[in-house]
Amino acid sequence: MIRFHRGAAEVWIAEDAPSLARAAAEEIVRVGSEAVAARGRFLVALSGGATPGPVYELLARDYARALDWSRAVVFWSDERCVPPADARSNYRFARSRFLERVPVQPAQVYRIRGEDDPAAAAAAYERALRTVLAAGPQIAPTASFDLALLGLGSDGHTASLFPGRPAVRESDRWVLADEITGLGARVTLTPAVLNLAREVMFLVEGTPKADVVQRVLEGPCEPGQLPAQAIRPATGRTVWVLDRPAAARLAVPGGQG
Ligand code: 6PG
Repeated sequence: MIRFHRGAAEVWIAEDAPSLARAAAEEIVRVGSEAVAARGRFLVALSGGATPGPVYELLARDYARALDWSRAVVFWSDERCVPPADARSNYRFARSRFLERVPVQPAQVYRIRGEDDPAAAAAAYERALRTVLAAGPQIAPTASFDLALLGLGSDGHTASLFPGRPAVRESDRWVLADEITGLGARVTLTPAVLNLAREVMFLVEGTPKADVVQRVLEGPCEPGQLPAQAIRPATGRTVWVLDRPAAARLAVPGGQG
C-alpha cells in the first residue's frame, strides 16, 4: 500500500481492487471502533455505486464481530428515487451485501425513502439526520458523521452532486433532491453536512477513473465542474483509497508508482 498526502487529502494506493476493499474495510472498522469507544455510537454514511460492493461483502464476511455493529447508526450519502426493492436502490445494494449480515439494529438504519416525492424525502431525511445528531453526545456538536463513504463518477460527481448543479454549492441544507438528466431524480447529502464529517473516505477503482482522479486531486480547483472537490471537511480527514489503475495518472512521490 502506497500512502502519501496530496494537498489536504491522504492518498492510499492499493495494488488491486481486492486490496482496496481490504484497506477500506479495515479503516471502516478502525474508525467505527474508535467512535464507539469515544462516543458510544458510530455514525456512518454509506456510498452508493458499485465500488463499495466488495467492501460491504468483506465487512459482512470477515468483520461481523470486529465491531459492535449494534452501535452503528447508518445513513446513505445519496439515493436514487426508486422503491427500496428496486435493483437501482443504494439501500438495497448495501442491505443485501452487508447490513442484513451484521447485527445492526434495524431502527438505526436510516434509508432515504426513494419511493416518496424527492423533495419530501430529502426534507424528511434532513430532519432525521439532525435529530439523530442532536440526540448524541455533544462532545463536538459541529461534527456530523464519524465516517462518510463516497464514490467518484468519471464526470467528477460524488454522491448525487453532479457538475453544474446548484446542490454542489449548497451551504445550508444538508439534504437536497435533484433531477439529473439521463439518470432521473436523486436525493443527496450536500457539502454542508459532508464537510462536517470527522472522516470522508473516497473509494475509486479502475482505469476509467484515472483521468478524473488526477483532475480532482491535482488539477485546478473547480468544484462546480468537479463536485468531488467540494468535499473538503474543515477539520475532518479526507482519505482517497484507490487501486493502481485509478491512480495511474497521479504523480506519486518518490517514484513509488
Ligand atoms: C450512486 C453513487 C455515485 C457513485 C459514483 C461511482 O448513487 O451511484 O452515489 O456517486 O458513487 O457514480 O459509482 P461506481 O462506484 O459504480 O463507479
